Amino acid sequence: QQEDNQFKIGFSQCVSNDAWRRAMHEEMQKELSFYPNFELQIKDAKGNNEQQIKQIQELVDEGIDLLIVSPNESDPITPIVEKVFESGIPVIVVDRRITSNLYSAYIGGNNYEVGLTAGQYIKNLLNEKGNLLEIWGLRGSSPAIERHRGLLDALQGTEIQIVDQINGEWEKDTAKNRLKNYLLEDQIPEFDLVFGHNDVMTIGAHEVFKSLSLLPKKFIGVDALPGPYGGIQAVHDGILDATFFYPTGGDKAIELAQKILKGEPYQKENILQTAVLDSTNIRIMKQQTDKIIAQQEDIARQKERIDVQMEIYKNQRIFLFGFGLT
Ligand code: FRU
Repeated sequence: QQEDNQFKIGFSQCVSNDAWRRAMHEEMQKELSFYPNFELQIKDAKGNNEQQIKQIQELVDEGIDLLIVSPNESDPITPIVEKVFESGIPVIVVDRRITSNLYSAYIGGNNYEVGLTAGQYIKNLLNEKGNLLEIWGLRGSSPAIERHRGLLDALQGTEIQIVDQINGEWEKDTAKNRLKNYLLEDQIPEFDLVFGHNDVMTIGAHEVFKSLSLLPKKFIGVDALPGPYGGIQAVHDGILDATFFYPTGGDKAIELAQKILKGEPYQKENILQTAVLDSTNIRIMKQQTDKIIAQQEDIARQKERIDVQMEIYKNQRIFLFGFGLT
Protein backbone atom coordinates (compact mmCIF):
# COMPACT_ATOMS: atom_id res chain seq x y z
CA GLN A 1 0.00 0.00 0.00
CA GLN A 2 1.30 3.43 -0.92
CA GLU A 3 0.74 6.84 0.58
CA ASP A 4 -2.65 8.62 0.23
CA ASN A 5 -4.30 5.25 -0.35
CA GLN A 6 -3.14 5.18 -3.92
CA PHE A 7 -3.18 1.64 -5.23
CA LYS A 8 -1.31 0.23 -8.15
CA ILE A 9 -2.82 -2.79 -9.89
CA GLY A 10 -0.78 -4.76 -12.38
CA PHE A 11 -2.65 -6.81 -14.95
CA SER A 12 -0.78 -9.53 -16.78
CA GLN A 13 -2.93 -10.26 -19.83
CA CYS A 14 -2.18 -13.37 -21.91
CA VAL A 15 -3.11 -11.77 -25.26
CA SER A 16 -4.94 -8.61 -26.22
CA ASN A 17 -5.36 -8.54 -29.98
CA ASP A 18 -8.94 -9.77 -29.98
CA ALA A 19 -12.33 -8.18 -29.37
CA TRP A 20 -13.11 -10.25 -26.29
CA ARG A 21 -9.99 -9.03 -24.47
CA ARG A 22 -10.60 -5.47 -25.66
CA ALA A 23 -14.09 -5.70 -24.18
CA MET A 24 -12.51 -6.89 -20.92
CA HIS A 25 -10.17 -3.88 -20.85
CA GLU A 26 -13.04 -1.49 -21.59
CA GLU A 27 -15.07 -2.94 -18.73
CA MET A 28 -12.08 -2.54 -16.45
CA GLN A 29 -11.54 1.10 -17.47
CA LYS A 30 -15.23 1.88 -16.99
CA GLU A 31 -15.19 0.41 -13.49
CA LEU A 32 -11.89 2.15 -12.70
CA SER A 33 -13.47 5.55 -13.38
CA PHE A 34 -15.26 5.06 -10.03
CA TYR A 35 -11.96 4.62 -8.20
CA PRO A 36 -9.68 7.56 -8.99
CA ASN A 37 -7.09 6.31 -6.49
CA PHE A 38 -6.52 3.15 -8.54
CA GLU A 39 -3.90 2.96 -11.22
CA LEU A 40 -3.97 0.05 -13.65
CA GLN A 41 -1.04 -1.11 -15.68
CA ILE A 42 -1.64 -3.77 -18.32
CA LYS A 43 1.14 -5.88 -19.81
CA ASP A 44 0.29 -7.99 -22.83
CA ALA A 45 2.20 -11.28 -23.14
CA LYS A 46 1.07 -11.74 -26.75
CA GLY A 47 0.30 -15.42 -26.20
CA ASN A 48 3.82 -16.24 -25.02
CA ASN A 49 4.32 -18.06 -21.69
CA GLU A 50 7.94 -16.96 -21.12
CA GLN A 51 6.98 -13.38 -21.88
CA GLN A 52 4.11 -13.55 -19.40
CA ILE A 53 6.35 -14.93 -16.64
CA LYS A 54 8.85 -12.13 -17.33
CA GLN A 55 6.15 -9.46 -17.33
CA ILE A 56 4.63 -10.66 -14.05
CA GLN A 57 8.09 -10.39 -12.47
CA GLU A 58 8.51 -6.91 -13.95
CA LEU A 59 5.17 -5.77 -12.52
CA VAL A 60 6.21 -7.04 -9.09
CA ASP A 61 9.64 -5.36 -9.35
CA GLU A 62 8.02 -2.07 -10.37
CA GLY A 63 5.89 -2.30 -7.21
CA ILE A 64 2.25 -3.33 -7.37
CA ASP A 65 -0.33 -3.68 -4.60
CA LEU A 66 -2.32 -6.36 -6.39
CA LEU A 67 -1.86 -8.61 -9.40
CA ILE A 68 -4.59 -9.55 -11.85
CA VAL A 69 -3.60 -12.35 -14.19
CA SER A 70 -5.18 -14.21 -17.08
CA PRO A 71 -2.69 -17.06 -17.61
CA ASN A 72 -1.88 -17.95 -21.20
CA GLU A 73 -1.42 -21.64 -20.35
CA SER A 74 -2.04 -23.04 -16.89
CA ASP A 75 1.03 -25.22 -16.20
CA PRO A 76 3.84 -22.83 -17.15
CA ILE A 77 2.28 -19.77 -15.48
CA THR A 78 1.34 -21.46 -12.19
CA PRO A 79 4.74 -21.28 -10.37
CA ILE A 80 5.25 -17.50 -10.85
CA VAL A 81 1.67 -16.76 -9.75
CA GLU A 82 2.18 -18.93 -6.66
CA LYS A 83 5.41 -17.08 -5.93
CA VAL A 84 3.71 -13.67 -6.13
CA PHE A 85 0.84 -14.84 -3.93
CA GLU A 86 3.19 -16.32 -1.36
CA SER A 87 5.17 -13.07 -1.23
CA GLY A 88 2.01 -11.44 0.17
CA ILE A 89 0.71 -9.66 -2.93
CA PRO A 90 -2.99 -10.45 -3.49
CA VAL A 91 -3.69 -12.18 -6.81
CA ILE A 92 -6.93 -12.21 -8.81
CA VAL A 93 -7.05 -14.84 -11.55
CA VAL A 94 -9.44 -14.00 -14.41
CA ASP A 95 -10.92 -16.19 -17.15
CA ARG A 96 -8.10 -18.76 -17.47
CA ARG A 97 -7.00 -20.67 -14.38
CA ILE A 98 -3.73 -21.76 -12.87
CA THR A 99 -3.39 -25.35 -11.63
CA SER A 100 -3.15 -24.62 -7.90
CA ASN A 101 -5.30 -22.77 -5.39
CA LEU A 102 -2.59 -20.34 -4.33
CA TYR A 103 -4.41 -17.16 -5.36
CA SER A 104 -6.75 -14.75 -3.59
CA ALA A 105 -9.76 -14.91 -5.91
CA TYR A 106 -10.91 -16.21 -9.27
CA ILE A 107 -13.41 -14.44 -11.50
CA GLY A 108 -14.70 -15.90 -14.73
CA GLY A 109 -17.00 -18.41 -16.35
CA ASN A 110 -17.32 -22.07 -15.48
CA ASN A 111 -15.82 -23.50 -18.64
CA TYR A 112 -16.78 -27.08 -17.86
CA GLU A 113 -20.38 -25.89 -17.71
CA VAL A 114 -19.96 -23.97 -20.97
CA GLY A 115 -18.81 -27.19 -22.69
CA LEU A 116 -21.51 -29.26 -21.01
CA THR A 117 -24.31 -26.84 -21.93
CA ALA A 118 -23.04 -26.59 -25.49
CA GLY A 119 -22.83 -30.40 -25.66
CA GLN A 120 -26.41 -30.80 -24.42
CA TYR A 121 -27.54 -28.26 -27.00
CA ILE A 122 -25.67 -30.14 -29.74
CA LYS A 123 -27.17 -33.43 -28.58
CA ASN A 124 -30.69 -32.05 -29.08
CA LEU A 125 -29.86 -30.30 -32.32
CA LEU A 126 -28.47 -33.48 -33.90
CA ASN A 127 -31.02 -35.83 -32.34
CA GLU A 128 -28.18 -37.65 -30.61
CA LYS A 129 -26.58 -38.76 -33.87
CA GLY A 130 -23.90 -37.37 -36.16
CA ASN A 131 -20.31 -36.36 -36.85
CA LEU A 132 -18.72 -33.44 -35.11
CA LEU A 133 -15.57 -31.45 -35.81
CA GLU A 134 -14.11 -29.73 -32.76
CA ILE A 135 -11.94 -26.65 -33.07
CA TRP A 136 -9.82 -26.25 -29.98
CA GLY A 137 -8.57 -23.16 -28.21
CA LEU A 138 -4.98 -23.25 -26.99
CA ARG A 139 -4.42 -26.81 -25.69
CA GLY A 140 -2.78 -25.81 -22.40
CA SER A 141 -5.29 -23.10 -21.49
CA SER A 142 -7.92 -24.05 -18.96
CA PRO A 143 -11.02 -22.91 -20.92
CA ALA A 144 -10.07 -25.18 -23.85
CA ILE A 145 -9.44 -28.17 -21.58
CA GLU A 146 -12.62 -27.57 -19.59
CA ARG A 147 -14.89 -26.87 -22.57
CA HIS A 148 -13.68 -30.09 -24.17
CA ARG A 149 -14.29 -32.08 -20.97
CA GLY A 150 -17.83 -30.69 -20.64
CA LEU A 151 -18.57 -31.48 -24.28
CA LEU A 152 -17.38 -35.09 -23.90
CA ASP A 153 -19.54 -35.61 -20.81
CA ALA A 154 -22.64 -34.23 -22.54
CA LEU A 155 -22.17 -36.42 -25.60
CA GLN A 156 -21.60 -39.61 -23.64
CA GLY A 157 -24.11 -42.32 -24.46
CA THR A 158 -25.17 -40.68 -27.74
CA GLU A 159 -24.22 -41.63 -31.28
CA ILE A 160 -22.47 -38.33 -31.80
CA GLN A 161 -18.79 -38.72 -32.52
CA ILE A 162 -16.03 -36.16 -32.39
CA VAL A 163 -14.48 -37.34 -35.65
CA ASP A 164 -11.62 -34.84 -35.78
CA GLN A 165 -10.06 -31.99 -33.86
CA ILE A 166 -8.24 -28.91 -35.13
CA ASN A 167 -5.96 -26.75 -32.97
CA GLY A 168 -7.14 -23.21 -33.60
CA GLU A 169 -5.33 -21.76 -30.55
CA TRP A 170 -8.24 -19.30 -30.04
CA GLU A 171 -7.29 -17.40 -33.22
CA LYS A 172 -9.42 -16.99 -36.30
CA ASP A 173 -6.57 -17.10 -38.83
CA THR A 174 -4.83 -20.07 -37.22
CA ALA A 175 -8.12 -22.00 -37.17
CA LYS A 176 -8.88 -21.06 -40.78
CA ASN A 177 -5.47 -22.05 -42.13
CA ARG A 178 -5.33 -25.37 -40.30
CA LEU A 179 -8.91 -26.19 -41.24
CA LYS A 180 -8.35 -25.36 -44.89
CA ASN A 181 -5.27 -27.62 -45.06
CA TYR A 182 -7.17 -30.35 -43.29
CA LEU A 183 -10.22 -30.17 -45.58
CA LEU A 184 -8.03 -30.34 -48.66
CA GLU A 185 -6.65 -33.71 -47.57
CA ASP A 186 -8.03 -36.93 -49.05
CA GLN A 187 -10.84 -38.91 -47.50
CA ILE A 188 -12.26 -36.41 -45.08
CA PRO A 189 -15.29 -37.64 -43.17
CA GLU A 190 -18.67 -35.94 -43.56
CA PHE A 191 -19.42 -33.48 -40.78
CA ASP A 192 -22.80 -32.44 -39.48
CA LEU A 193 -21.61 -29.84 -37.04
CA VAL A 194 -18.60 -27.73 -36.10
CA PHE A 195 -18.10 -26.87 -32.44
CA GLY A 196 -15.48 -24.17 -31.97
CA HIS A 197 -14.19 -23.27 -28.51
CA ASN A 198 -14.85 -19.62 -29.38
CA ASP A 199 -16.88 -17.63 -31.90
CA VAL A 200 -14.07 -16.12 -33.95
CA MET A 201 -12.65 -19.55 -34.82
CA THR A 202 -16.14 -20.89 -35.56
CA ILE A 203 -17.00 -17.93 -37.79
CA GLY A 204 -13.65 -18.56 -39.55
CA ALA A 205 -14.59 -22.22 -40.00
CA HIS A 206 -17.86 -21.17 -41.58
CA GLU A 207 -15.91 -19.02 -44.05
CA VAL A 208 -13.66 -21.96 -44.97
CA PHE A 209 -16.53 -24.43 -45.41
CA LYS A 210 -18.35 -21.86 -47.50
CA SER A 211 -15.34 -21.13 -49.74
CA LEU A 212 -14.99 -24.88 -50.40
CA SER A 213 -18.74 -25.23 -51.07
CA LEU A 214 -19.07 -27.60 -48.13
CA LEU A 215 -22.16 -26.03 -46.56
CA PRO A 216 -24.71 -26.58 -45.11
CA LYS A 217 -23.38 -27.57 -41.71
CA LYS A 218 -24.24 -26.47 -38.22
CA PHE A 219 -21.88 -24.14 -36.36
CA ILE A 220 -21.76 -23.61 -32.60
CA GLY A 221 -19.39 -21.23 -30.83
CA VAL A 222 -18.73 -19.55 -27.49
CA ASP A 223 -18.39 -15.89 -26.31
CA ALA A 224 -21.51 -14.10 -27.67
CA LEU A 225 -19.84 -10.71 -28.00
CA PRO A 226 -21.98 -7.78 -29.13
CA GLY A 227 -20.94 -5.58 -32.04
CA PRO A 228 -20.61 -6.03 -35.81
CA TYR A 229 -18.08 -8.92 -35.78
CA GLY A 230 -19.25 -10.64 -32.61
CA GLY A 231 -21.13 -13.85 -32.04
CA ILE A 232 -24.48 -12.14 -31.50
CA GLN A 233 -24.37 -10.64 -35.00
CA ALA A 234 -23.24 -14.01 -36.40
CA VAL A 235 -26.21 -15.85 -34.86
CA HIS A 236 -28.47 -13.06 -36.05
CA ASP A 237 -27.12 -13.48 -39.60
CA GLY A 238 -27.51 -17.27 -39.52
CA ILE A 239 -23.75 -17.91 -39.67
CA LEU A 240 -23.71 -19.51 -36.24
CA ASP A 241 -26.61 -21.69 -35.10
CA ALA A 242 -25.88 -20.85 -31.49
CA THR A 243 -23.31 -19.28 -29.21
CA PHE A 244 -22.83 -19.48 -25.45
CA PHE A 245 -22.44 -16.33 -23.44
CA TYR A 246 -18.97 -16.07 -21.83
CA PRO A 247 -18.63 -12.82 -19.87
CA THR A 248 -15.17 -11.26 -19.58
CA GLY A 249 -15.55 -10.29 -15.92
CA GLY A 250 -13.47 -7.11 -16.45
CA ASP A 251 -15.64 -4.86 -14.27
CA LYS A 252 -16.01 -7.53 -11.60
CA ALA A 253 -12.24 -8.00 -11.44
CA ILE A 254 -11.78 -4.33 -10.54
CA GLU A 255 -14.63 -4.49 -8.04
CA LEU A 256 -12.93 -7.46 -6.40
CA ALA A 257 -9.56 -5.69 -6.40
CA GLN A 258 -11.18 -2.79 -4.61
CA LYS A 259 -12.65 -5.04 -1.92
CA ILE A 260 -9.39 -6.89 -1.39
CA LEU A 261 -7.31 -3.71 -1.19
CA LYS A 262 -9.74 -2.05 1.21
CA GLY A 263 -9.80 -5.13 3.41
CA GLU A 264 -13.49 -5.78 2.80
CA PRO A 265 -14.88 -9.34 2.71
CA TYR A 266 -14.89 -11.06 -0.67
CA GLN A 267 -15.47 -14.50 -2.13
CA LYS A 268 -12.63 -16.61 -3.45
CA GLU A 269 -14.60 -18.18 -6.32
CA ASN A 270 -16.70 -15.79 -8.41
CA ILE A 271 -18.37 -17.72 -11.20
CA LEU A 272 -20.14 -15.93 -14.04
CA GLN A 273 -23.07 -17.66 -15.68
CA THR A 274 -23.40 -18.81 -19.27
CA ALA A 275 -26.56 -18.90 -21.41
CA VAL A 276 -27.44 -19.99 -24.92
CA LEU A 277 -28.17 -17.53 -27.70
CA ASP A 278 -29.88 -18.97 -30.75
CA SER A 279 -32.69 -18.21 -33.19
CA THR A 280 -35.24 -18.32 -30.34
CA ASN A 281 -33.83 -15.32 -28.44
CA ILE A 282 -31.34 -13.61 -30.74
CA ARG A 283 -33.58 -10.75 -31.88
CA ILE A 284 -34.26 -9.46 -28.40
CA MET A 285 -30.61 -9.96 -27.36
CA LYS A 286 -29.36 -8.08 -30.38
CA GLN A 287 -31.82 -5.26 -29.76
CA GLN A 288 -30.64 -5.00 -26.17
CA THR A 289 -26.93 -5.08 -26.93
CA ASP A 290 -27.32 -2.61 -29.83
CA LYS A 291 -29.07 -0.27 -27.43
CA ILE A 292 -26.27 -0.59 -24.87
CA ILE A 293 -23.65 0.13 -27.56
CA ALA A 294 -25.58 3.26 -28.63
CA GLN A 295 -25.85 4.43 -25.02
CA GLN A 296 -22.14 3.89 -24.48
CA GLU A 297 -21.40 5.97 -27.56
CA ASP A 298 -23.65 8.73 -26.18
CA ILE A 299 -21.80 8.68 -22.87
CA ALA A 300 -18.45 8.89 -24.68
CA ARG A 301 -19.71 11.88 -26.71
CA GLN A 302 -21.05 13.60 -23.60
CA LYS A 303 -17.74 13.07 -21.84
CA GLU A 304 -15.90 14.62 -24.79
CA ARG A 305 -18.16 17.68 -24.64
CA ILE A 306 -17.67 18.03 -20.89
CA ASP A 307 -13.89 17.80 -21.39
CA VAL A 308 -14.05 20.56 -24.03
CA GLN A 309 -16.14 22.75 -21.70
CA MET A 310 -13.71 22.13 -18.84
CA GLU A 311 -10.81 23.14 -21.06
CA ILE A 312 -12.57 26.38 -22.07
CA TYR A 313 -13.39 27.12 -18.43
CA LYS A 314 -9.79 26.48 -17.38
CA ASN A 315 -8.43 28.79 -20.10
CA GLN A 316 -10.89 31.52 -19.15
CA ARG A 317 -9.78 31.28 -15.53
CA ILE A 318 -6.14 31.52 -16.54
CA PHE A 319 -7.00 34.53 -18.72
CA LEU A 320 -8.95 36.31 -15.97
CA PHE A 321 -6.32 35.40 -13.43
CA GLY A 322 -3.74 37.01 -15.69
CA PHE A 323 -5.64 40.29 -15.37
CA GLY A 324 -6.08 39.87 -11.65
CA LEU A 325 -9.83 39.57 -12.08
CA THR A 326 -10.49 36.42 -10.05
C1 FRU B 1 -10.09 -14.36 -26.08
C2 FRU B 1 -10.50 -15.78 -25.89
C3 FRU B 1 -11.99 -15.95 -25.94
C4 FRU B 1 -12.19 -17.17 -25.14
C5 FRU B 1 -11.22 -16.92 -24.03
C6 FRU B 1 -10.71 -18.13 -23.34
O1 FRU B 1 -8.71 -14.18 -26.02
O2 FRU B 1 -9.87 -16.58 -26.83
O3 FRU B 1 -12.48 -16.03 -27.24
O4 FRU B 1 -13.49 -17.37 -24.72
O5 FRU B 1 -10.14 -16.23 -24.61
O6 FRU B 1 -9.69 -17.84 -22.46
